[in-house]
Amino acid sequence: MKYTLSFTLNGDPVDVLVKPTDTLLDVLRENLNVTSPKRGCDSGDCGACTVLLDEQPILSCLTIALTVAGRDIKTIESFTSKDGKMHPLQQSFHESYAAQCGFCTPGMLVSSKALLDKNPRPTRDEIVAAISGNICRCGTYHEVIEAIESFASGDRKE
Ligand code: FES
Ligand code: FES
Repeated sequence: MKYTLSFTLNGDPVDVLVKPTDTLLDVLRENLNVTSPKRGCDSGDCGACTVLLDEQPILSCLTIALTVAGRDIKTIESFTSKDGKMHPLQQSFHESYAAQCGFCTPGMLVSSKALLDKNPRPTRDEIVAAISGNICRCGTYHEVIEAIESFASGDRKE
Protein backbone atom coordinates (compact mmCIF):
# COMPACT_ATOMS: atom_id res chain seq x y z
CA MET A 1 0.00 0.00 0.00
CA LYS A 2 1.36 3.42 -0.97
CA TYR A 3 0.26 6.91 -0.01
CA THR A 4 0.77 10.28 -1.67
CA LEU A 5 3.16 12.45 0.31
CA SER A 6 3.19 16.18 -0.44
CA PHE A 7 5.82 18.54 0.91
CA THR A 8 8.13 21.34 -0.16
CA LEU A 9 11.59 20.30 -1.26
CA ASN A 10 14.19 22.98 -1.81
CA GLY A 11 11.47 25.53 -2.48
CA ASP A 12 9.39 23.42 -4.87
CA PRO A 13 6.21 21.47 -4.10
CA VAL A 14 6.58 17.72 -4.57
CA ASP A 15 4.10 14.83 -4.57
CA VAL A 16 5.47 11.34 -4.28
CA LEU A 17 4.07 7.87 -3.62
CA VAL A 18 5.59 6.31 -0.51
CA LYS A 19 5.20 3.26 1.68
CA PRO A 20 4.41 3.81 5.37
CA THR A 21 7.80 2.34 6.26
CA ASP A 22 9.85 4.54 3.88
CA THR A 23 12.21 6.96 5.57
CA LEU A 24 12.73 10.49 4.33
CA LEU A 25 16.23 9.42 3.26
CA ASP A 26 14.75 6.58 1.14
CA VAL A 27 12.35 8.98 -0.54
CA LEU A 28 14.90 11.73 -1.18
CA ARG A 29 17.54 9.44 -2.64
CA GLU A 30 15.49 6.72 -4.31
CA ASN A 31 12.24 8.40 -5.36
CA LEU A 32 13.33 11.99 -5.89
CA ASN A 33 16.96 11.50 -6.92
CA VAL A 34 18.23 14.03 -4.37
CA THR A 35 21.53 12.40 -3.48
CA SER A 36 23.35 14.92 -1.26
CA PRO A 37 21.97 13.31 1.94
CA LYS A 38 24.17 10.24 2.32
CA ARG A 39 23.31 6.83 3.72
CA GLY A 40 26.13 6.20 6.15
CA CYS A 41 25.07 4.19 9.18
CA ASP A 42 21.30 4.27 8.44
CA SER A 43 20.77 4.21 12.20
CA GLY A 44 21.16 7.75 13.52
CA ASP A 45 24.84 7.64 14.41
CA CYS A 46 26.81 9.44 11.68
CA GLY A 47 24.89 12.56 10.58
CA ALA A 48 25.61 11.99 6.89
CA CYS A 49 21.88 12.07 6.12
CA THR A 50 21.21 15.43 7.83
CA VAL A 51 18.66 17.70 6.11
CA LEU A 52 16.70 20.74 7.24
CA LEU A 53 13.08 20.31 8.35
CA ASP A 54 11.52 23.76 8.72
CA GLU A 55 15.13 25.08 9.02
CA GLN A 56 16.05 22.63 11.83
CA PRO A 57 18.61 19.88 11.17
CA ILE A 58 17.18 16.37 11.38
CA LEU A 59 18.41 12.89 10.57
CA SER A 60 16.52 11.80 7.48
CA CYS A 61 17.39 8.11 8.05
CA LEU A 62 15.38 8.17 11.30
CA THR A 63 12.46 10.21 9.93
CA ILE A 64 9.42 8.37 8.58
CA ALA A 65 8.69 10.10 5.27
CA LEU A 66 4.96 10.48 5.85
CA THR A 67 5.64 12.63 8.93
CA VAL A 68 6.98 15.47 6.76
CA ALA A 69 3.65 15.99 4.95
CA GLY A 70 3.13 19.71 4.41
CA ARG A 71 6.55 20.61 5.83
CA ASP A 72 9.57 22.33 4.31
CA ILE A 73 12.63 20.19 3.57
CA LYS A 74 15.94 21.60 2.40
CA THR A 75 19.12 19.87 1.30
CA ILE A 76 22.35 21.43 0.10
CA GLU A 77 20.95 21.33 -3.44
CA SER A 78 19.09 24.48 -2.32
CA PHE A 79 22.28 26.25 -1.18
CA THR A 80 23.72 26.56 -4.68
CA SER A 81 22.33 29.45 -6.74
CA LYS A 82 20.35 28.81 -9.94
CA ASP A 83 23.39 29.73 -12.04
CA GLY A 84 25.43 27.05 -10.25
CA LYS A 85 27.39 29.36 -7.94
CA MET A 86 28.34 27.85 -4.61
CA HIS A 87 26.91 29.33 -1.43
CA PRO A 88 29.62 31.36 0.35
CA LEU A 89 29.63 28.76 3.14
CA GLN A 90 30.33 26.05 0.56
CA GLN A 91 33.05 28.29 -0.88
CA SER A 92 34.52 28.63 2.58
CA PHE A 93 34.55 24.82 3.01
CA HIS A 94 36.26 24.58 -0.36
CA GLU A 95 38.91 27.17 0.50
CA SER A 96 39.58 25.59 3.90
CA TYR A 97 40.03 22.09 2.42
CA ALA A 98 37.17 20.96 4.66
CA ALA A 99 36.26 18.04 2.38
CA GLN A 100 38.50 15.08 1.68
CA CYS A 101 36.33 12.21 0.42
CA GLY A 102 33.33 14.53 0.86
CA PHE A 103 30.96 11.88 2.22
CA CYS A 104 30.19 13.78 5.41
CA THR A 105 30.29 17.23 3.78
CA PRO A 106 26.59 17.68 2.90
CA GLY A 107 25.60 16.84 6.48
CA MET A 108 28.32 19.12 7.86
CA LEU A 109 27.10 21.96 5.64
CA VAL A 110 23.47 21.48 6.67
CA SER A 111 24.34 21.45 10.38
CA SER A 112 26.62 24.47 10.11
CA LYS A 113 24.19 26.49 7.99
CA ALA A 114 21.43 25.84 10.54
CA LEU A 115 23.76 27.16 13.24
CA LEU A 116 24.86 30.23 11.28
CA ASP A 117 21.31 31.18 10.29
CA LYS A 118 20.38 31.32 13.99
CA ASN A 119 23.71 32.51 15.33
CA PRO A 120 25.87 34.36 12.77
CA ARG A 121 28.82 34.75 15.16
CA PRO A 122 29.11 31.41 16.96
CA THR A 123 31.91 30.65 19.38
CA ARG A 124 34.21 27.71 18.70
CA ASP A 125 32.36 25.70 21.36
CA GLU A 126 29.03 26.45 19.68
CA ILE A 127 30.44 25.33 16.32
CA VAL A 128 31.78 22.12 17.85
CA ALA A 129 28.40 21.46 19.46
CA ALA A 130 26.54 22.13 16.19
CA ILE A 131 28.59 19.58 14.23
CA SER A 132 28.92 17.09 17.08
CA GLY A 133 26.42 14.75 15.42
CA ASN A 134 28.36 14.70 12.15
CA ILE A 135 31.08 12.07 11.96
CA CYS A 136 33.97 12.58 9.54
CA ARG A 137 35.93 9.39 8.96
CA CYS A 138 38.62 11.45 7.16
CA GLY A 139 39.11 13.56 10.28
CA THR A 140 38.62 17.00 8.74
CA TYR A 141 37.08 18.49 11.89
CA HIS A 142 39.76 21.15 12.22
CA GLU A 143 39.24 22.31 8.63
CA VAL A 144 35.43 22.26 8.99
CA ILE A 145 35.62 24.43 12.10
CA GLU A 146 38.05 26.75 10.33
CA ALA A 147 35.67 27.04 7.36
CA ILE A 148 32.74 27.93 9.60
CA GLU A 149 34.83 30.44 11.55
CA SER A 150 36.08 32.00 8.34
CA PHE A 151 32.51 32.41 7.04
CA ALA A 152 31.29 33.76 10.39
CA SER A 153 34.17 36.20 10.72
CA GLY A 154 32.88 38.09 7.73
CA ASP A 155 35.60 36.97 5.36
CA ARG A 156 32.70 35.41 3.52
CA LYS A 157 29.14 36.67 3.57
CA GLU A 158 26.03 35.95 1.55
S1 FES B 1 22.77 7.73 7.81
FE1 FES B 1 21.51 8.85 9.15
S2 FES B 1 22.71 9.19 10.91
FE2 FES B 1 23.95 7.91 9.66
S1 FES C 1 35.64 14.25 4.35
FE1 FES C 1 35.56 12.06 4.27
S2 FES C 1 34.12 11.54 5.78
FE2 FES C 1 34.42 13.65 6.07
